[in-house]
Amino acid sequence: MTEPTIFDKKPVVLDLEAGDYWWCSCGNSKNQPYCDGAHKGTEFVPVKVTLEDSKKVALCLCKKTNNSPFCDGTHAKL
Ligand code: FES
Repeated sequence: MTEPTIFDKKPVVLDLEAGDYWWCSCGNSKNQPYCDGAHKGTEFVPVKVTLEDSKKVALCLCKKTNNSPFCDGTHAKL
C-alpha cells in the first residue's frame, strides 16, 4: 500500500462551524487540512467529517492517524 505524504508532524487545531468537511488523506492537497483533489489517480480518497455543532478540533496533518480525520498522537512516533 502506498504511504500518504506527511504534510506536517503536528495537527492543526481549528474552531469549525457545524457542517461537512473533507479531510485530505493523501497529504498532497495545497489546501490543508482539506481536500483539493490532489489525490486523483491515487488510491487515497478524502474523509468526510460532519460536525453537528461548532467545536474545536485537532485535525491530523501527518496523515498517519488511526482515527482520521482527528489527531490521535501518532505523529509523535514519526
Ligand atoms: S498529526 Fe497525525 S496523528 Fe497527530
